[in-house]
Amino acid sequence: MTEMTSPAPLARTAVIVGASGGIGAALVQAVSERGEVERVFALSRRRPLDLPPKASWLSIDLEREATIDAAAAAIGEADLVIVATGLLQDQRQAVERSYRALTTEAMARSYLINTIGPALVAKAFLPRLPKDRRSVFAVLSARVGSISDNGLGGWHSYRASKAALNMMVRTLSIEVRRERPLALCVALHPGTVATPLSAPFQKGVPTEKLFPPELAAEQLLRVVEGLSPRDSGRFFAWDGSEIAP
Ligand SMILES: NC(=O)c1ccc[n+]([C@@H]2O[C@H](COP(=O)([O-])OP(=O)(O)OC[C@H]3O[C@@H](n4cnc5c(N)ncnc54)[C@H](OP(=O)(O)O)[C@@H]3O)[C@@H](O)[C@H]2O)c1
Repeated sequence: MTEMTSPAPLARTAVIVGASGGIGAALVQAVSERGEVERVFALSRRRPLDLPPKASWLSIDLEREATIDAAAAAIGEADLVIVATGLLQDQRQAVERSYRALTTEAMARSYLINTIGPALVAKAFLPRLPKDRRSVFAVLSARVGSISDNGLGGWHSYRASKAALNMMVRTLSIEVRRERPLALCVALHPGTVATPLSAPFQKGVPTEKLFPPELAAEQLLRVVEGLSPRDSGRFFAWDGSEIAP
């Protein structure tokens, strides 16, 4: 991450996509607590139970582009958008331990939720980033989506969909820079966070490396605040270190 003398003000209007998720809900809370943030939009399929007073909820389903467009149109200009949705496994599909387990359905769903959905959010929100000041479009990726870091194998669909997401971020950043030189488009790795997504895999993770969602959200916002436009297109971990693609 580029060295900066002081952190940038976070945002005036913040949008968190995936507000019903473990990290998404904590991000809504954390951005709402920042004095400089005037408007917070929490986007998800289900309305989260505990919304801070500053936050407004809008319905969104990544599988239906019209819902993404409608939310973006209702919000208008936004200078911080964080996409915190994602699918690792659920009742319909398990992470693969071997190529023998690959199925068309699981691969297609992983790409749909982890790559295509965030790309459609970018399509709707990038034109709404301000042109005259710093703004950030960030997606939550995962270190396992780094091709060069992959020494273990497994989790084929999740890894590949996150690698594709990282490529999407880099590609978008090049285009965004032409019209909005102060805008950033980045991928972020939150660390291992105690949420439903990681619940089946938390055994064996040392306590100090399993972040409560509230801590993960704060760490991610600190990274976002420390980024400069030169960092656009890159992939950063929760501690600000860069992850190689
Ligand atoms: N937790 C970790 O250790 C960890 C590590 C590395 C990376 N990450 C990444 O961080 C992000 C957030 O993870 P998390 O741990 O907070 O997961 P989570 O608690 O399972 O939340 C996932 C979120 O994605 C939403 N979502 C899934 N499909 C959707 C769809 N079709 N339309 C709209 N929303 C949809 C869920 O909404 P519903 O509530 O409507 O299902 C939920 O809000 C993910 O991208 C994940 O890959 C997490």
